[in-house]
Amino acid sequence: MQATTIDMNLAELEESILGGTTARRNDAVIARGEGCWLYATDGRRYLDLTAAQGVAMLGHCHPALSQAIAAQAQTLIACPNFLYNDVRARFAAKLVEVLPPHLNHIFLANSGAEAIDGALKFARLTTGRTRAIAFRSAFHGRTVGALSLTWEKKYREPFQPLLDVTHLPYNNLAKADEALDESIAAVFLEVVQGEGGVNLGDGDFLRGVQQFCRERGALLVIDEIQTGFGRTGRWFGFEHHDLQPDMICLAKGLGAGFPMGAIAYTDCVQEKLYPGAHGSTFGGNPLASAAGLAAIETYQDEGLIERAAVMGDLFLRRLREELADVVLVRDIRGIGLMLAVELRQKAGLYLKALMEDHGVLALPAGPNVIRFLPPLVIAEDEIEIGVRALRTVLQQ
Ligand SMILES: Cc1ncc(COP(=O)(O)O)c(C=O)c1O
Repeated sequence: MQATTIDMNLAELEESILGGTTARRNDAVIARGEGCWLYATDGRRYLDLTAAQGVAMLGHCHPALSQAIAAQAQTLIACPNFLYNDVRARFAAKLVEVLPPHLNHIFLANSGAEAIDGALKFARLTTGRTRAIAFRSAFHGRTVGALSLTWEKKYREPFQPLLDVTHLPYNNLAKADEALDESIAAVFLEVVQGEGGVNLGDGDFLRGVQQFCRERGALLVIDEIQTGFGRTGRWFGFEHHDLQPDMICLAKGLGAGFPMGAIAYTDCVQEKLYPGAHGSTFGGNPLASAAGLAAIETYQDEGLIERAAVMGDLFLRRLREELADVVLVRDIRGIGLMLAVELRQKAGLYLKALMEDHGVLALPAGPNVIRFLPPLVIAEDEIEIGVRALRTVLQQ
């Protein structure tokens, strides 16, 4: 075994063991990160305009986050869940501080999909109903509960039958009015659909769905896994539309790179919960709690939420200026630092060229869309590198 490990290159080694469900873009092996940059073992560096799938909101290895994790790692890593823990208590209080006052209870999990699955259970307990509504192009994760809410056929079909979920057209209030009856436990909604193409929710649609939920006794669950913690230029995406969700699901920016998830919910949901209704061995682990606490403190101390709004406007404006005459571009849209360039062709080859020819990392969002989810600390000159590289690639 030892000899095989040493003889194989690291990309091949990883592929041979971990290659089952993940397609890698090429054979770069990333070994270090700092700010918006990732460094590979062959000496190349990459401008990470994905923030590692939208999680490294503080940039890679922000000293405040790295130091908090290192200090906690030398103090207490695991704590029995049946005992209180100092850092978990401080983290929960900090999280509640940045949430609206009606979302004053938290369940701590380890990932986005796990938060969504928990919210499904909480909605069933609270309402005594089982059915859910989600929207076309929605992405809520890939565990069985979350997958039932995810729209994309290629993810769902091999795993049918899934839970009883009706998918409605996004931004179509009349269809929501028709479908939302008294059998529905919850409506799961993204205020901006991330994986689905950076589709912006319309304010009247979002508020209308909330009103139907209230009238018909369903819970409104907003998936803030990608939009949370400043991504859209506000702490949470729902704040743009003055919504009052019954639950929100969090992950990505919650730990700014440390694997975490959470559900924030109201008194009304809390009343129906009881010890054992849900649980997680690792959720709220002291190491994760220290990371979450440091992440939120850093968003606050460095004014990163406000900064995301300013840098997002700049990024969007520069994309529109630089790509105005590029025929391949069908649309440029976004909010805060969640941006999309929709092409008239498939985006895959352009994403590969961006990486290989210009050292710039971006994400797909559906077949034709190039998506940028940069760290909130991104600087003006880094935006410029990304925009110019994209222009060159799209003109070739
Ligand atoms: C909006 C949204 N919901 C849920 C998820 C699933 O999160 P995770 O991959 O942590 O399970 C994602 C992941 O990209 C997401 O963007």
